[in-house]
Amino acid sequence: MNRKILQGFSLLLAGLLLLNACRHEILYPGGGGTGGTGGGTGGGTGSTNTCSPDSVYFVNDIMPLIASNCAMSGCHDAITHEDGVDLTSYTKIMKYVSPGNASGSKLYKEIIRTDGDRMPPPPMPPFTTAQKTLIQKWINQGAKNNSCAGRCDTTVFTYSGAVKPLMDNKCVGCHNPANPGGNIDLSTYNGVKLVALNGKLYGSVAHQPGYSPMPQGAAKMPDCEIIQIQKWITAGTLNN
Ligand code: HEC
Repeated sequence: MNRKILQGFSLLLAGLLLLNACRHEILYPGGGGTGGTGGGTGGGTGSTNTCSPDSVYFVNDIMPLIASNCAMSGCHDAITHEDGVDLTSYTKIMKYVSPGNASGSKLYKEIIRTDGDRMPPPPMPPFTTAQKTLIQKWINQGAKNNSCAGRCDTTVFTYSGAVKPLMDNKCVGCHNPANPGGNIDLSTYNGVKLVALNGKLYGSVAHQPGYSPMPQGAAKMPDCEIIQIQKWITAGTLNN
C-alpha cells in the first residue's frame, strides 16, 4: 500500500537481526493449546473447536511461525523502541494484515518478496513455500484469531510426519545455522537427533528441571505434541 511504511517495516525487521543476542520475552495470545487447555485470549474469538483440515488457525499455525521467525529474540523490545513493528500478538500482527486479502497485506508481501528486504531478512532462511502458503491461506480465510483442538495424533511419531513439522513451525526460526540459539541447529535431522540423544530435546519441551523451557518465551507445547516427540525418541530417533 504505502511504500514508505513498507520500507520502514523492512528496515525495522532487518534491524532485528542485529539484535539476536537480546532477551526473549514473547507472549502467545492464547494458550497455544491444541491440547484442549488454554485457548486464545488475544481477541476473545479464540474458542477451541475441532480442527478442520481446510482451515488455518492463528493460535495453532500462525503465531508459532511468527514467534520463532519474526518476533524472536525478544526484539520486540527494540521494535517498541522504534515505535514500529511488533509482531508478538494477534492484535499487533493485525496492523499488517488486511483480512481476506493476502496480496494486499504487508505481512504477506514482506515474506514473499525475493530481494534482500524480505522477511525474515537474510541471513535468516526465508519461509518455506508451505509456510508462505499457510500464512496466505490464513489471511484469505479472514485472518481470524482462531484455534482448534484435536489435530495432533499421538499415534503419529515419525520424524517426517510429526517431529520435523513441529521443529519447522515452532523452533527452526531460532535454531538454524544463521541463528543457532544455544548453538543448536534444529533445521536438519542430524541436529534434532543430537539434542534428542543428549536429553535436551525432551527436557526442554517437557519443561523438565535443569533444562531451558522451549519454545523460548512462548506457551508450552500441547501434551500431545510432547508425547509425539517422546515417542519418536523412545523409538530410536529414526530418520523416518
Ligand atoms: C524465540 C527463540 C527460540 C525458540 C522459538 C525456540 N528456542 Fe530453543 N533456544 C533458544 C535460545 C536462545 C537457546 C539458548 C539459551 C537457552 O538455553 O535458554 C535455546 C536453547 C534450546 C535448547 C537447549 C536447552 C538446554 O537446557 O540446554 C534446546 C534443546 C532447544 N532450545 C530446543 C528448542 C525447541 C525444540 C524449540 C521448539 C519447540 C525451540 N527450542 C524454540 C531460542 C529459541
